[in-house]
Amino acid sequence: MSRSAHPAGPRHADVLTEGHYSAPAADLNVLDEKVWSRTVTRDADGALTVGGITVARLAEEFGTPAYFLDESDFRARCRAWADAFGPDADVFYAGKAFLSRAVVRWLKEEGLNLDVCSGGELTTALDAGMPAERIAFHGNNKTVAEIERAVEAGVGRIVLDSFQEIVRVAHIAQRHGVRQRVQIRVTVGVEAHTHEFIATAHEDQKFGIALADGQAAEAVRRALALDGLELIGVHSHIGSQIFDMAGFEVSARRVVQLLAEIRDEHGVELPEIDLGGGLGIAYTSEDDPREPHEIAKALSDIVTRECESAKLRTPRISVEPGRAIVGPTAFTLYEVGTIKPLEGLRTYVSVDGGMSDNIRTALYDAEYSVALVSRTSDAEPMLVRVVGKHCESGDIVVKDAFLPADLAPGDLIAVPATGAYCRSMASNYNHALRPPVVAVRDGEARVIVRRETEEDLLRLDVG
Ligand code: LLP
Repeated sequence: MSRSAHPAGPRHADVLTEGHYSAPAADLNVLDEKVWSRTVTRDADGALTVGGITVARLAEEFGTPAYFLDESDFRARCRAWADAFGPDADVFYAGKAFLSRAVVRWLKEEGLNLDVCSGGELTTALDAGMPAERIAFHGNNKTVAEIERAVEAGVGRIVLDSFQEIVRVAHIAQRHGVRQRVQIRVTVGVEAHTHEFIATAHEDQKFGIALADGQAAEAVRRALALDGLELIGVHSHIGSQIFDMAGFEVSARRVVQLLAEIRDEHGVELPEIDLGGGLGIAYTSEDDPREPHEIAKALSDIVTRECESAKLRTPRISVEPGRAIVGPTAFTLYEVGTIKPLEGLRTYVSVDGGMSDNIRTALYDAEYSVALVSRTSDAEPMLVRVVGKHCESGDIVVKDAFLPADLAPGDLIAVPATGAYCRSMASNYNHALRPPVVAVRDGEARVIVRRETEEDLLRLDVG
């Protein structure tokens, strides 16, 4: 995620001592289509529109801050993933990126499956009508109550994450008189090139069961021996916001090797492997994500090749993209409040949201883009830091970016690529009210998750 400091930039840049920023785009009014959702454009007056509606109208009707989700882009991305993987593979959208009832209905209509990782996500999925057999249930510490509900609902698979869970799920399934379809999540020992907190397949972490020291093989032994379980395959997820396919290739190879060992030891060929999610998206113009068809081809080629050399039947592949589907489909709209030029440093632009609607910058040092969207401007670029309204100096939304120097309070600015892990990780810090998610499509906008109100806050406060 890092970019090198760049000496260019007409204003402030000559005196800057720290920060990772690039030269301003030649024309700040041009919206880079890499980071904006597909129906975003500027209208004749220079205002940004999404799904044919201008941000001024959206701000007036729904207020700011708010997330605007481009529904047709979301659906198109679902279809692109489903088409790329084809009928012999399964795409599970990772609900942790962003989940709501509307999203579940879109997934269902577009033929995707759903990965959930908590009772709350499971409830949302079932409530919105996702067939249970199209749901995968994840988590490193599912409660007994959550497992009960998943088994009762008849979820298509539970991904087992520990030795205790193998036994827990088996007992619960037996009690319900069913054989639960399960996969075992293995840690394949790949160091994904991403932020430490979102890398998940190196061995020193809480997820999965290690391949390296024979633990995974032992987990398979135990799962195969339990009547309540139908072991359908092995699962691996190596991390998040990854561009380099090499990690996935190593992971696929190791998972196939495990299938070969299982065949040799037990005489069974497990029919499925899941290679998880983690595909990166463009947050800035410098990110170059892969297209779903390239990813599908790379993964299926490696699995096919490895299976041929191990003389295994090629298993059915599944993947779990979250960010890659929803991330690029939404932007956050903010109103500029105060503007503070710090001589010799940078200009702080404060917006009406912040770390409560986007914690990723503070948490992962994530980089974002930002644009003035209520109008165009011919003013020269100024280097800014977009910050929120929270009582914390780490409350940064966009660390270093360029906005026009005539930026003024009341202007609307938007941060693209906030569809994933922003609303889903939003908080009430400082008793902020979590913003709404508004779906926009073909000239119509509708709230799919409403804005929190002060009554919502007080309702929970029962002291
Ligand atoms: N499958 C499993 C088992 C996962 O743990 C995850 C993400 C995914 C799929 C989806 O990964 P994606 O395709 O969205 O990268 N909050 C962090 C990301 C945490 C991801 C956790 N697991 C962030 O904001 O970057």
